[in-house]
Amino acid sequence: MAAKGKSHKVLGAAIFGAGWVAGEHARAYQKCPRTKLVAVGSRKAESARKCAAYADAHDAFITTDFDELLKCPDVDIVSITTPPDTHADLTIRAAHAGKHMCIEKPIALDWNSCLEMQRAVKRAGVKSIVSFCLHWNPSLMNTRSLIDSGAIGQPYYVEVDYWHGMKKWYPQYPWSVTKAQGGSSLLSAGCHAIDAMRWFAGVENEIVEVAAFNVEHKGDNKDWEYPPSTVLICRFKNGTVGIVASILDCKMPYSFNVDVVGTKGTIRDNRLWSETLLPGQSSWNTTPTILPDSGDVTHHPFDGQIEALVASILDGAMVLPDLDDAIKTHELIFAADQSAETGRPVKLPLS
Ligand SMILES: NC(=O)c1ccc[n+]([C@@H]2O[C@H](COP(=O)([O-])OP(=O)(O)OC[C@H]3O[C@@H](n4cnc5c(N)ncnc54)[C@H](OP(=O)(O)O)[C@@H]3O)[C@@H](O)[C@H]2O)c1
Repeated sequence: MAAKGKSHKVLGAAIFGAGWVAGEHARAYQKCPRTKLVAVGSRKAESARKCAAYADAHDAFITTDFDELLKCPDVDIVSITTPPDTHADLTIRAAHAGKHMCIEKPIALDWNSCLEMQRAVKRAGVKSIVSFCLHWNPSLMNTRSLIDSGAIGQPYYVEVDYWHGMKKWYPQYPWSVTKAQGGSSLLSAGCHAIDAMRWFAGVENEIVEVAAFNVEHKGDNKDWEYPPSTVLICRFKNGTVGIVASILDCKMPYSFNVDVVGTKGTIRDNRLWSETLLPGQSSWNTTPTILPDSGDVTHHPFDGQIEALVASILDGAMVLPDLDDAIKTHELIFAADQSAETGRPVKLPLS
């Protein structure tokens, strides 16, 4: 039930690109009290049908044609869950059709496409959310809430790492290792860590400079068309420094490391050291919670993400990360990839 004072309207949701992540978007729309999955589209009708069935949306409209999906009058929101090289075109077409949208990461594989998407969404006046779903992971929510409460004072060093040895069984593996569809280590997956690093440093805090390195080694996997591991260091306008290591060829279980060092304390994943909240502590205070410790999409908190998009559409709530915010994450990625390629630091903003 929607909270008192909030709209009880039920929005029609559609999904385009019926693969691995799409099933979880579909389930989140069905679970949300203010959305219903009404259409699923994909290259293959069979994939769309399977996705609808996975979410028990047996009466959903099935199509292989994106324009036909956009013409459905009961579709208010579209989730774009195809591979990244198609996101920009689909976003611009959905904006022209007046649809709100949930765009999978990375939003695009080049900077100009990001700016075109931003213009189209702004002109259409539609709401957007970008699928950095870890904003709804309980451990990361605790981290943001502790920073907001002043538990660690002013953060001045933030390090977030995405260490995930990509397995060949992942449905997206065949295309995500290619330059044309995966892009780079930071675009393909490290973008989650960059988003979190910006979130903890303060999204209003502009980044002014970045230096990055691709990691060279003689690994045994020859599938990668780009260096699978990239490390960046960046400086924010207020002096905060951030580090992100995106390591996609590691031999270890999935790990999303979070370290935030502030003037009054430090957060390391779900551990807190706080001079202000816990002046008598003699060891780390550990909060039992759900950590971001799996690459499996069924573990990811898409429910919260869909609820946030719906609240922005129906209640006028602020939504983060929307397209404008995600574009700042992507700006850092393009600058970092340029730095790794040229061997020189890159100043932001990009022109
Ligand atoms: N936010 C997260 O945590 C998260 C997690 C995983 C993935 N993702 C992102 O979600 C997106 C999809 O990833 P995935 O793992 O779900 O990949 P996937 O399993 O390969 O699914 C993509 C689906 O898109 C369809 N498709 C492929 N090319 C298309 C095209 N040119 N036009 C229309 N449909 C096309 C395919 O459907 P058919 O079967 O019909 O051919 C495919 O099943 C990527 O951007 C990825 O980075 C995000």
